[in-house]
Amino acid sequence: MAEFLTANDKRTHLCACLGNENVGEKVCVMGWVQKQRDLGSLIFIDLRDRTGIVQLAFDDTTDREIFEKAFGVRAEFVLLAKGVVRRRGEGAINTTIPTGEIEIAVDELKVLASAQTPPFEIVENSNVNAELRLRHRYLDLRRPDMQRNIIARSRIGKIARDYYAENGFVDIETPNLCKPTPEGARDYLVPSRVHKGKFYALPQSPQLYKQLLMVSGFDRYFQIARCFRDEDLRADRQPEFTQIDTEMSFVTADDVMKMHEGFLKRLFREYFGRELEGDFIRMPYAEAMERFGSDKPDIRFGYELTNLSDLLAGCEFKVFAGAIENGGSVRAINVKGGAKFSRKEIDSLTEFVKSYKAKGLAWLKWAENGDISPSYAKFLTEEENEKIKTAMNAEAGDLILIVADKNKVVFDSLGALRCECAKRMGILDPMDFKFLWVTEFPLLEYSEEDGRFYAMHHPFTSPMDEDLQYIDSDPGRVRAKAYDIVLNGTELGGGSIRIHDGDIQTKMFSVLGLSEEEAYEKFGYLLDAFKYGVPPHGGLAFGFDRLVTLLLGLEDIRDVIAFPKVQNASELMTKCPSEPDPKALDELCLAVKE
Ligand code: AMO
Ligand code: AMP
Repeated sequence: MAEFLTANDKRTHLCACLGNENVGEKVCVMGWVQKQRDLGSLIFIDLRDRTGIVQLAFDDTTDREIFEKAFGVRAEFVLLAKGVVRRRGEGAINTTIPTGEIEIAVDELKVLASAQTPPFEIVENSNVNAELRLRHRYLDLRRPDMQRNIIARSRIGKIARDYYAENGFVDIETPNLCKPTPEGARDYLVPSRVHKGKFYALPQSPQLYKQLLMVSGFDRYFQIARCFRDEDLRADRQPEFTQIDTEMSFVTADDVMKMHEGFLKRLFREYFGRELEGDFIRMPYAEAMERFGSDKPDIRFGYELTNLSDLLAGCEFKVFAGAIENGGSVRAINVKGGAKFSRKEIDSLTEFVKSYKAKGLAWLKWAENGDISPSYAKFLTEEENEKIKTAMNAEAGDLILIVADKNKVVFDSLGALRCECAKRMGILDPMDFKFLWVTEFPLLEYSEEDGRFYAMHHPFTSPMDEDLQYIDSDPGRVRAKAYDIVLNGTELGGGSIRIHDGDIQTKMFSVLGLSEEEAYEKFGYLLDAFKYGVPPHGGLAFGFDRLVTLLLGLEDIRDVIAFPKVQNASELMTKCPSEPDPKALDELCLAVKE
C-alpha cells in the first residue's frame, strides 16, 4: 500500500545537496532506493534523486516500526525520509560520493511507492542492450549518466536562449503543419480531415517561415525548432530532431558567422569555463576537399590528402595511370606511425574504402626496422617509389594509403579513411574541440542519376556575386554564399545568405528545372512576399542534438534525446508507428494499399 504526502511533508533538500554543513539539521528528502543493506542490527539505504545519493541510517535507536519498514524496502521503492543529519563513523566514510561523510538518522519513513525489480540495474554506464534500454526508457532515463545528459541539454538550450535574446533575436514559433519546405529529404505527411485528399507536411526546417519573418521586419529571429525528415537514420541523425534556428536581416555572411561564433564562445565559457581563443578558421569548400577529402573535415589531426597524379601520370601501373587518364586522380594519405597495422588490419581498411566505392587500396608500409613493403611493388619503379615517399614526407614507421579513381570516389574514400585510421590509432580526444567554418560551397550539385542539378544547400541560397555570371553557361562552377560550422568532423550547423532578388530566384528555379508556373505553385507566397520590400537576409541553424552530443563527448545522438527513435524510425517504448483505428482512416477517406 502506498503512503501519501501530507501538508507537513515538504522536501527540504535534494539528496546530494547535503553535506557537513548540514550536520545537526532536521531534514526531509525524497527519492528512489538505490540499495538497501541489512546488517542485522543496522540497515543502510542509499536514497537517490537526480542530484545523487544520500545514506539513510537505521539502528537500535530507531523506532521499531520504522526499522521494520526499512527492512522491507527494495531497490527502486520511492521513499520519504525525515531525520537529523549526522557525521558517519570514521570507518564508514565514503570518499567517492559528495555526501560520503554524512548520513541521515531517520526518524520518519514513508514508502510512497513500491517497485517491481527493474529489467536492468539503475546504475551509471550500464552496458545493457540498447533495445531493452529504449523499451523501458523511463528507467533508462533514471540512470545518472542519462540524467546528466538531459540536464546538460536543458542548460545548453538556456544558454542559447539567453545569448540570442541578448543579441536582439525574437523567439517566434512557426507552424508544424505546413506546406512542404524543401531541404532535400522526404516529407512526413499529415492527412487533412477537412480537406479530403489533401495533406500537410511536417517542416523539415522553418526555412521559408523565417525568411518571411524577415520580410515582416522582425530583423532577427530565433527558435529552438523541431524538424522532421523522413531519411535513413545513422548515429548522428533522427527523423525528428531539433535545430537552434536563426535568421538575420541586413547582414553579410561574415556578420552571420561572427554572431554564431559568439554563441559557441559564450557556450564554452558558461558551460566549461573555457575560452575558445581567436577567430574560427574559415576554409573554402574546395580547399577542404583537396586537403581533407571532406566538406566537414576533422582538423584535430593531419593525415592530409596529397595529390600524386602529376607524379604518377603515365606510370606502368594501369590502376593509377588509367584513373588519371580518365580524368580522375591518385591521392594518398600518410598515416604517421601506421606501419604498426598488421596485414589483416590493412585488409580491413581495404574493405572500409570499398564501402565508399573505391575499387581497392594501394599501400606502402615503411616499418620501424626500415623494411619497405608496397602492395604495388611489382608495378612501380624504384624511382617512382622514392618520389611517392618524398611527396608524402614519409619516414620509418609510416603507412601510406593510396586510392586511384574518379575524384569523387577518391575524396569520399580517403576522407573517411583518414578519420577511420585516426580512430584506430587512438589519437582522437573527444574533448579536444576544433571548430571551423567551411565556406564557398558550390551552389549546385549535379546528379548523374537524374541528369539535373540540385541545390546543394537549398534553392533560396544566394550565389556569390562574382560567380553569378556563370549561372547559365556553367552552373556547376557557381559558388554560394553558404557556410557550415564543423566540429571534429561533424556538420554542426549550416546556413547561407539568401537570394533576395526576384530575378535571381527565378533564374535559380529554372536551373533546378522548375518552370515559372511550377515555382509559383510551390513557392508563390515567398515570391509574392519578396515583391513588397525584402531586406537582404541570411541565417543559420545548428543541429541542437548534435551540438549537445559532441559537447558531452558522446557518439550517439540518442543519448541526448529523451525519447529517441531507432534505426527503422520506430519508437520502442510506445511502439509507434502503429496501425490507426479504421474509423480514423475512414474519416480521413484513406485506405491502406496492400
Ligand atoms: P540543414 O539542413 O543543414 O540546414 O540543417 C541544419 C543542421 O541540422 C542538423 N541536422 C540533423 N540533426 C539530426 N538529425 C537529422 N536528421 C538532421 N538533419 C540535419 C545538422 C545540420 O547542420 N534551413 C537550413 C538552415 C539555414 O539555411 O538557415 C537547414 O535546415 O547539424
Ligand atoms: P591488383 O592489380 O588488383 O593486384 O592490385 C594491386 C594493388 O593495387 C592492390 O594493393 C590493390 O588493392 C590496389 N588497387 C586496386 N585498385 C585500386 C584503386 N582503384 N586505387 C588504389 N589501389 C588500388
